[in-house]
Amino acid sequence: MNVILLGPPGAGKGTQARILVEGRAMVQLSTGDMLREARSSGTDMGRKVADVMDKGHLVTDGIVIGLIREKLISGTAPGGYIFDGFPRTLAQADALGTLMDEVGQSLDRVIEMQVDDAALVARITGRSTCAGCGEVYHDVTRPVPADGKCSNCGGTTFTRRTDDNADSLKTRLLAYYKQTSPLIGYYYAKGLLRGVDGLGEIADVAKEIGAILD
Ligand code: AP5
Repeated sequence: MNVILLGPPGAGKGTQARILVEGRAMVQLSTGDMLREARSSGTDMGRKVADVMDKGHLVTDGIVIGLIREKLISGTAPGGYIFDGFPRTLAQADALGTLMDEVGQSLDRVIEMQVDDAALVARITGRSTCAGCGEVYHDVTRPVPADGKCSNCGGTTFTRRTDDNADSLKTRLLAYYKQTSPLIGYYYAKGLLRGVDGLGEIADVAKEIGAILD
């Protein structure tokens, strides 16, 4: 199964992708994580995209398509790929279709995670991430364990993303509605779209996604 998790910032794409990786041996391809890695390792590309990301705008199609192309051509995923945060524009969606053909794979499902905007603000402003392994926490709904150690890797450093602030979130939401939400119709027309209620508890959302994949 190759699947796209589609939804606005804070919908829970990363959280659910990690659950799928653990439970189904799938491979998560998050363009957000790839871009953040490029930033922190100080590559030319990382420097170019840093400001764009901090302001909440989309990075150019060419850059993210290149990142995904590299992963698809060089990697394998017996349990399938989870595309998390990609595609985000119609051009990226077309490019993904072409790339999947090139590597002899197909896209099986596109899962739209539906969450209202008020919940997104609360989720984004409460998020923290383990610096060691990327496990995602939330001040209220999924707090860091009381011993201060990541439940996944035991790490003790937790970071907040520089784009998780009110201004950049506004821009990110606008980018979602203007540039990414047309993909809902695009994949509906291809018969691949399924929706889940992203407002439920993390475990309930995971169950709904699992049922779609089964
Ligand atoms: P990216 O990293 O993809 O960020 P995003 O799409 O804005 O999504 P988030 O990571 O913020 O949210 P999420 O849906 O993964 O939610 P999470 O599971 O963490 O992109 C960042 C930037 O990179 C973009 O703005 C752009 O500049 C650039 N970029 C990336 N890809 C690009 C592309 N393809 N094209 C162009 N530019 C690109 O959950 C959020 C919080 O909520 C967490 O604290 C979590 O614990 C909590 N939570 C999750 N689920 C639940 C639940 N069910 N109930 C309660 N709390 C929950």
